[in-house]
Amino acid sequence: MIKIIDFKIRDLNDKIPHNKTLFYPCCGSDFISPIASFHDIIDTFYFCCLEDQQIDNTELQKWLLGFKLVSNNVKVKFPVKHTKIENRGYNEQKKAEKYLDVWKNIKTGREIKIYRVIQDGLTMLLYDPILSQIGIFFYRGDGSGDGGSGIGWLMTDKDKTESYLEYNIHHVLQRLSENGLIVTDGSNSGVEYRFFYDKNKYDIKRNDKIFHCLGKISSSRDNQTVVWQVSSV
Ligand SMILES: C[S@@+](CC[C@H](N)C(=O)[O-])C[C@H]1O[C@@H](n2cnc3c(N)ncnc32)[C@H](O)[C@@H]1O
Repeated sequence: MIKIIDFKIRDLNDKIPHNKTLFYPCCGSDFISPIASFHDIIDTFYFCCLEDQQIDNTELQKWLLGFKLVSNNVKVKFPVKHTKIENRGYNEQKKAEKYLDVWKNIKTGREIKIYRVIQDGLTMLLYDPILSQIGIFFYRGDGSGDGGSGIGWLMTDKDKTESYLEYNIHHVLQRLSENGLIVTDGSNSGVEYRFFYDKNKYDIKRNDKIFHCLGKISSSRDNQTVVWQVSSV
């Protein structure tokens, strides 16, 4: 096992694409840590889940120092064709919904947008223009059993088994900016991308990409959450 070094996200500021979006599918109620970790370098957070989970804004305020919540839980319209939750075998065809919170820095006026979307993650990644380019793909704490999505976000078609519904890494890599980040504990990673789970190398080459292990995000829950920077060969 290599030693994975803790580092300050702010130190990444000049190394990654600026003002981009963080996309976190299958997020459950895991809102605070991604925002707390990345709000210095990300302006738009996009959480997507089948469950209607609320963000604890009192807790979030402790991390967004100097920011004020100026717009809370505003309903955003969907294109009509996505207003019904895609049926991937585990839901009841509920109505899809999209909400937006906006936090504003009192001194600088900088805004942070937080979208909370109740819809299938792949549907939104493929069709929402906000996600046409992402700076960070954040994904963890998932599986295929009890309560897990069974979505192979870090899998390829080669990993096909009955336990998984989709094999999505090519969609993620297509939308990830050059030098963008994948932040993950390796949940639902297949054979080719197992290194996300093993966390045992610094640089890995896969197809036309280099995955450079930068470190883990530091706080108790984040112990296993590793930051990988993805660049073209
Ligand atoms: C095991 S939980 C993980 C929650 C979160 N990642 C965490 O670490 O706390 C899996 C979540 O995926 C959501 N989910 C299942 N299928 C999904 C899909 N197709 N698109 C988006 N979210 C989905 C479920 O509603 C559930 O909240």
